Amino acid sequence: MSDDNNNKQADFLGRYGPWALVAGASHGIGSEFTRQVAAQGLNCILVARTEDTLQSLKSSLEGEYGVKVLIVTQDLSAPDAAARLLRATGERQVGLLIYNAGGDPFISQFLNTDAESWMSLLRLNTQTVLETSHTYGKRMVERGQGGVILVGSHAALGGVRKLGMYSATKAFSLNLGESLWAEWKDRGVDVLNLLISTVDTPMMRETMQRLNIPDAATMNLPQADDIVRLALAALPNGPTLVHPQDLESPDGELSLGDRRREHVINKSAEAAMFIGRD
Ligand SMILES: NC(=O)c1ccc[n+]([C@@H]2O[C@H](COP(=O)([O-])OP(=O)(O)OC[C@H]3O[C@@H](n4cnc5c(N)ncnc54)[C@H](OP(=O)(O)O)[C@@H]3O)[C@@H](O)[C@H]2O)c1
Repeated sequence: MSDDNNNKQADFLGRYGPWALVAGASHGIGSEFTRQVAAQGLNCILVARTEDTLQSLKSSLEGEYGVKVLIVTQDLSAPDAAARLLRATGERQVGLLIYNAGGDPFISQFLNTDAESWMSLLRLNTQTVLETSHTYGKRMVERGQGGVILVGSHAALGGVRKLGMYSATKAFSLNLGESLWAEWKDRGVDVLNLLISTVDTPMMRETMQRLNIPDAATMNLPQADDIVRLALAALPNGPTLVHPQDLESPDGELSLGDRRREHVINKSAEAAMFIGRD
């Protein structure tokens, strides 16, 4: 590895290490996040519901990158998920929280799924996001360093037919993340909302096949490894990366992510006149 790459890796590890916690780590975008942060030398806490996929990812990360790996088998939609996670992680210093779990397992019109099932998506995408951001974010702010990535969706930007609760809960995460960016950016903690559209993940392919979408198995889709690389590079420049639109905005024009950053800064300054700057 070149000196330049060594320095970049040391900077990343120093800023976001020693442990990364990936909520929803076992496949797709989450497993790609774990690979790329382990490649930078971060130890990984892997969280998902399916133990055997976590075990095989653990072996692969330990073998390939020589990092420590803790697995936590936990349903993040359980009411006490964050408390259990905190007990399992103990005193480990989590410098990078990546909240990735949060796909919609129901994809239906609002009335075609029962309210209790929607409540489980609500907890997964709001309550547990809130509680994990609060617990691990507090420790990061106290240390004056760290990072939080909330994996979101274009659906956060407005309502979508058959994605009502998904859209609503992703909007919660987006607005919370942008507010935390405004509160923590001068306190050493980076926050990034990663808003993506359809990505080539096992969950997405299975969903498309289940819904009988033509070419579901072969359709060309953006790849998780490319998106994760962009997200990790964008983390210091939060609060929001909209993929792929932000990469395509013409020179001299503000991207959607740039415009959202301006909105957060301007609105925070305006609000401060009425609610104070503390
Ligand atoms: N793929 C896309 O096209 C797409 C598009 C826009 C946004 N996104 C966002 O990207 C993120 C990742 O999506 P994905 O396609 O990789 O699928 P996903 O279904 O969200 O699964 C990702 C990971 O989360 C875990 N997970 C799911 N539900 C969980 C739960 N209740 N408790 C604990 N772990 C859970 C899964 O493992 P287990 O099943 O073993 O628990 C897996 O490791 C999501 O937030 C999604 O909203 C994806």
